[in-house]
Amino acid sequence: MVKIAPSILSADFSRLGEQVSIVEQAGAEILHIDIMDGHFVPNLTFGPGLVSSIRPHSKLSFDVHLMIEKPEQYIKDFASAGANHITVHAEATSHLHRVVQQIKDLGLTAGVALNPASSLDSVKYLLEDLDMVLIMTVNPGFGGQKFIPACLAKIEELRARILKSGTNCEIEVDGGINSGTALEVARAGATILVAGAAVFAQPDPALAFRQLHEAVNK
Ligand code: DX5
Ligand code: ZN
Repeated sequence: MVKIAPSILSADFSRLGEQVSIVEQAGAEILHIDIMDGHFVPNLTFGPGLVSSIRPHSKLSFDVHLMIEKPEQYIKDFASAGANHITVHAEATSHLHRVVQQIKDLGLTAGVALNPASSLDSVKYLLEDLDMVLIMTVNPGFGGQKFIPACLAKIEELRARILKSGTNCEIEVDGGINSGTALEVARAGATILVAGAAVFAQPDPALAFRQLHEAVNK
């Protein structure tokens, strides 16, 4: 079963609680929450305060994607705010193994994200410690960008490495997912597909979510 994780980056922030309920009622299990610091990526979003304000209104698994430098400084804050899972970028810290352990020690699942130009070798010695590898299929920072097709080969190679290692690591993809690219990444081996604009920028986000979900689980 391939999961669609709606990203609130493209939601209407003036009625965020309602938007989260819409995708939850439509059958979503995971909510993707993008944190940007204006340094690691050229955009700013929100912090742990927003995560804790939506936490009491949703039972969804909160998948927090940290696009911030030195993520180790904020893991505790996002865990306390109600994150279930935290993904950090391999490019954003000098001590990737340490920050992965920090996330797991707090009882959360841990992921590492790789920018489009980053090699899978960044996670070669970490794969068995990870619950997820996030393959960025756009350059991080903005919703609504175009999918980078060269990332498909990377997803296939990661799927082969995970099979070979015998671990249970999920492959999440993030960026430019729509009804066409969703099928391609699912065939390549991705198991969680983040969808921002393809869900929340649509006139009926619940319908858009269900259609994407059905398209990849036929
Ligand atoms: C981009 C973020 C994504 C974003 C994806 O840097 O990490 O999660 O919401 O947006 P779409 O699905 O619109 O490409
Ligand atoms: Zn993201």
